[in-house]
Amino acid sequence: MNLKPLQFGSVKIEWPVVLAPMAGYTDAAMRTLCLEKGAGAVYTELTSAEGIRRDSQNTFAVLATGSSEHPIAGHIFGRDPQAMAEAAKYVEQTGQFDWIDLNCGCPVKKVVSRGAGAALLKELPQMAKIIEAVKAAVSLPVSVKTRIGFNHETAGHLEIADVVEQSGADMIAVHARLAKNFHGGDPDFETLGEMKQQLKIPVIGNGGVLSPEDAEKMVAVSGVDGVMIGRGAIGNPWIFEAIKQGLLEAGDTDAVPPASSRLAEKREMMAEHLNRLVQLNELKQKNLKCPAKHPPEESACIQFRTHIPYYVKGLRGKKQLLMKLASLKTAAEILTEMDLLVEANR
Ligand SMILES: Cc1cc2nc3c(=O)[nH]c(=O)nc-3n(C[C@H](O)[C@H](O)[C@H](O)COP(=O)(O)O)c2cc1C
Repeated sequence: MNLKPLQFGSVKIEWPVVLAPMAGYTDAAMRTLCLEKGAGAVYTELTSAEGIRRDSQNTFAVLATGSSEHPIAGHIFGRDPQAMAEAAKYVEQTGQFDWIDLNCGCPVKKVVSRGAGAALLKELPQMAKIIEAVKAAVSLPVSVKTRIGFNHETAGHLEIADVVEQSGADMIAVHARLAKNFHGGDPDFETLGEMKQQLKIPVIGNGGVLSPEDAEKMVAVSGVDGVMIGRGAIGNPWIFEAIKQGLLEAGDTDAVPPASSRLAEKREMMAEHLNRLVQLNELKQKNLKCPAKHPPEESACIQFRTHIPYYVKGLRGKKQLLMKLASLKTAAEILTEMDLLVEANR
């Protein structure tokens, strides 16, 4: 695929196929696996600027990173330019992040009802104030993750592109769907392409990429400088490698491991993912002032339950495992169930 290294300010993404921010999924465990499998960069989960301001332990825990996670964006949301600027400063001062990303596209009620996320698409002057305040507060590059619009009645995609660029953002990632459509429906790569044509800053496209062919199509239709993958990477960190190697494009089926070893690889990936989640929870709990609700391993298993349906997609007999999910409290229990599933699929 025709993608060049992408540079904005001090950040260079050698292979600009990146992991999207996804609350509840893209913690350090998933991010490090995706980086190792070829993701060009990663974003943290959604982090509240007000939470950082209030000195909230839970908010700081969302920002926990592994030691070798680069390039990585600290992804923050909020409505108040001052709070966003302070949060960005905090993120910069941790020394763990390569750039700051501002959420201007999240459509969930909890965020929009506070006038943040996608609500800013209905209020571009406020979005501009946030970008300007953050730019003035930090020396790290600043990007914006947004959408092609809120709905058909509010600001259009070219107006959004203009405000983001004029306010000083160094890069923009655009989810090619309207906020009113959440994550459903076909992404609109033509509209994304019109934004790309107008903008001078680099543009990463997002929405609906589940395979190398989808990535290829997004780049061919819109001309974006990079591709961002969300749901396509859950339970499938191999997607980055596949796109990098252009496996489907080349029709090089020899390069794809046989189904039986793919199953074993999947089981090993799940074990590693779970192991990293346990370590992450141990680290997070060490920094807590009050005791956590569950011990680290149980917390990890609860978090991992949301990944399991994606890992076992397409496997025969997965229903039995999925029905037991809520009762699996140790890594050994989860992996024993997975071994049974691997055996049933040989
Ligand atoms: C479970 C989930 C959580 C998400 N959390 C965030 C988030 O915290 N911040 C954000 O900007 N987008 C978030 N998104 C949106 C994704 O980053 C991405 O824009 C969207 O899923 C479309 O990409 P995809 O079709 O490749 O999944 C989330 C999406 C999902 C499915």
